[in-house]
Amino acid sequence: MAFEISTESTVQLPESATNEEELLLAKTKNPGETPPNPLSKNQIKKQKKLKLYETLKKERRIKEREKLKVRRQEAAAKGLPVRTGPSRKELKKRTKASIENPNALNVAIDLDYDDLMHDGDVAKCIKQCLRIYTINRRSHNPCRLHFTGIKENGRIHNILKKNDGWQNWNVDYHFNKTHIDIFAKNQIVYLTCESDTVLEKLDAECIYVIGGLVDHNHQKGLCHERAVKADLKTARLPLSEYVDMKTRSVLSTFHVFELLVGVYEGKSWTDAILETIPLRKGAKPKKSKDLNCTDGDSDSKVDQLPR
Ligand SMILES: C[S@@+](CC[C@H](N)C(=O)[O-])C[C@H]1O[C@@H](n2cnc3c(N)ncnc32)[C@H](O)[C@@H]1O
Repeated sequence: MAFEISTESTVQLPESATNEEELLLAKTKNPGETPPNPLSKNQIKKQKKLKLYETLKKERRIKEREKLKVRRQEAAAKGLPVRTGPSRKELKKRTKASIENPNALNVAIDLDYDDLMHDGDVAKCIKQCLRIYTINRRSHNPCRLHFTGIKENGRIHNILKKNDGWQNWNVDYHFNKTHIDIFAKNQIVYLTCESDTVLEKLDAECIYVIGGLVDHNHQKGLCHERAVKADLKTARLPLSEYVDMKTRSVLSTFHVFELLVGVYEGKSWTDAILETIPLRKGAKPKKSKDLNCTDGDSDSKVDQLPR
C-alpha cells in the first residue's frame, strides 16, 4: 500500500471556505475586523492546493482500485494468476500473528519530537512512519511496532488522522506516554549513532527505540543526549564494522527500521546494510569481513531470534 501525504503546513479551515476572502474571514471572529494573523497570499494558495490534492487523492485511489479489479478479472478469465504477492488480508493476518507472538522483536518509534521539528519535517517524519508500517507489514517476519510519545491532537497526531483507517493498522499507538512510561527501563535500547556500544545481535528481550526525528542533523546528538539523560542503554548500528561508507553514518528513522527488519528476517548485517543504505552513501562491503565469509551469510555473529 502506498501512502502519500503532503509536506505542506496545515491550518484547519472550514470545508466551505472556497475563496481568499472567505479564508481570511474564517480566521476573523467579527466580520470587518482585521484578522490577527492573516494568511499570506502564498499560504492561501498552498492551502487551496493542499485541499485539491486531498480531494484528488481520494478520487485517484478509487480509480486505482477499479483498474486493479478489472485487471484481476481479466487475468482470472485468461486463467492467469490473479496476484503476485500476498493479499492485504494475508498481510494483515501475518502482522497480527507477529504482534501476538511473545517472541516478536519490539521496535518503538519515539515520536516525542513533535515540538522540535518544522511543519514540513513533521510531515516527512510521519511519511517515514507510514513507510515503516508498510515495510513491517510486508516483511516475512514482522516486528511488534510501537509509535510512542504521540501528543494527543499535536501536529503528528493531526497528520496521522489524515490517513484513512490509521487506527486499524497493526501498530501500538501510545499517546502522551513515552517509551520510559511504557517499557521497563532495563529492556530499552535507544539506537543512536553516537553510542559507544555496537549492536551485535538482536535480542527479543529488548525494546529497540528509534528516534522519530527529521532534523537534517541540525540537532546533532540530541537523541543520544536524551537517552543518556534518561539513563537508558544505547547502541549504534554496526555500520563501520561491515561496510566502508563514503559519508557519515547517521541514517533516517526509516532506514534504521528497514535494516533492523532485514536482520530480523534473517539477512546478514552486510546484506541488510547494502540493501538499505542509499547509493549516495556509497557503502561497500569490508574486505576483511568478506574473507571470513563461508556460506554467503558473512555475519556469523548475528544470532537469529526465535520466530
Ligand atoms: C535522522 S536520525 C536523527 C538524527 C538526530 N540529529 C539525532 O540526534 O540522532 C533518526 C534516528 O535514527 C537512529 N539512527 C540513525 N543513525 C543511526 C546509527 N548509525 N546507529 C543507530 N541509530 C541510528 C536514531 O535513533 C536517530 O534518532
